[in-house]
Amino acid sequence: MYSDKVMDHFSNPRNVGEIENADGVGEVGNAHCGDIMKVYLKVENDIITDVRFKTFGCGAAIATSSVATEMIKGKTIDEALKLTNKEVVESLEGLPPAKLHCSVLAEEAVKAAIEDYKKKLGA
Ligand code: FES
Repeated sequence: MYSDKVMDHFSNPRNVGEIENADGVGEVGNAHCGDIMKVYLKVENDIITDVRFKTFGCGAAIATSSVATEMIKGKTIDEALKLTNKEVVESLEGLPPAKLHCSVLAEEAVKAAIEDYKKKLGA
């Protein structure tokens, strides 16, 4: 039911953890399943130099947050803001329909962290 890519990111999630003194932190949750995702960003000269996540949730939520952090690392803030849950699903080679909302959570967590970064900048 899950692609090899999903299983890989679930079994060996990339960028797990927290960043002390992060430049932006975003936390989102899904009221239905109760899963929570938190994303931490380090930003230098408008570029995301480091990103970490903590996800209390299902396997697909862990896989989508893992791949989403990989996708935005090294990107500019504007590029990272364009990340969509569809791209997250594509890079995981698909998700079962019942698990699509997990990828939405990943997109929202990235956006929430960027919003927090912008707010801290006063922009
Ligand atoms: Fe809700 Fe996966 S079941 S995020």
